[in-house]
This record gives sequence, C-alpha cells and structure tokens, in this order.
Amino acid sequence: MRRHIVLIGMMGAGKTALGTELARRLRVPFTDSDAEIETAAAMSITEIFARDGEGFFRDRETQILSRILSGPPGVLSTGGGAWIQPANRSLISTHGVSVWLNCDLDTLWHRVRQRNTRPLLKTPDPKGTLARLIEERYPIYGMADLVLESRPEDSVDAATSRLLDL
Ligand code: S3P
Repeated sequence: MRRHIVLIGMMGAGKTALGTELARRLRVPFTDSDAEIETAAAMSITEIFARDGEGFFRDRETQILSRILSGPPGVLSTGGGAWIQPANRSLISTHGVSVWLNCDLDTLWHRVRQRNTRPLLKTPDPKGTLARLIEERYPIYGMADLVLESRPEDSVDAATSRLLDL
C-alpha cells in the first residue's frame, strides 16, 4: 500500500471501529489522530478544548496529521472537524485516499448520546448542534474520494467488507 487510507466523517460515524478492523485486515498500522493528540498533550480532548480552546486544538490536529501522513502508509481515523480545514484536506489528498463515512443524524445521535464526551456537543441542545454541524459539513465531506454509506444495521465487519469493495 503506497497511500494512507484516511477515514473522515462526523463523530459517531464509526471511524475508529472501522479503521481498526480495516487496518487489521490489510495488515497495516492503524492511527487515530485524536488519540495521538491526547498522547502528545498528555490531556484529553475535552481538557484541551477547556484549557486552550478549539483554535489550539485545530493547530495541534494539523501538526499531528502532517506527521502521521508523512510516515509509513496505514489507516488513519481523523476527528470529525479535521477534513473541514482546507490545509488538512490538501495534506490528506496529497498523501492518501479519503473515505467519508456518511451517516444520518439519528444514527449519529443514538451513538454519541450514550456517552457525550464531545466538547462541541456540550450545549443546551446537543442534537440540534449535531444537526447544524451536519448541515455545515456534509457538502465538504462530499469532496472525499470515496463515500461509504453507513447503515445502522451493519456490523463493523460488514461495513469493512463494503469499504474494501468500493
Ligand atoms: C470533533 C470531533 C472529535 C474531536 C473533537 C472535535 C469535531 O473527534 O476531534 O472533539 O469537530 O467534530 P471524533 O469525530 O472522533 O469524535
């Protein structure tokens, strides 16, 4: 494999679960950019947002993506906002194939509401916030090289097989 496979899409779309299984099947390394940011900062994403703000987090995200993408090819799962930044899109497109996990609002909400650890959803109306983010972001996610329609009834295994068939 010469290029990275980069999973993009909203929080709750299943990027980490699917990426882990995909990397296992392809026998390549799996990296999660959020986890790398947390390790490098020795803080959780929530703490980084609270202490240093979203702008700081976005700068770190671009640095980490640039580091991972210039390394050996593998499967990379990105945070939901990563692809929205033009600089990140050009980095990702230079080094990898982007795959958007397209998932509807109700499925996303069902998954994220169980354990709301996402700082962007710490609002009085988290489902409304999620809906607004979907509206803003879906046209931009739509610029990905490939789109995997996420079916709520799919197992991780089935979704990974469908991705490999794209
Ligand atoms: C974000 C999504 C999160 C994380 C941060 C911001 C976003 O990642 O990067 O909370 O802007 O949608 P996941 O998509 O892995 O939840």
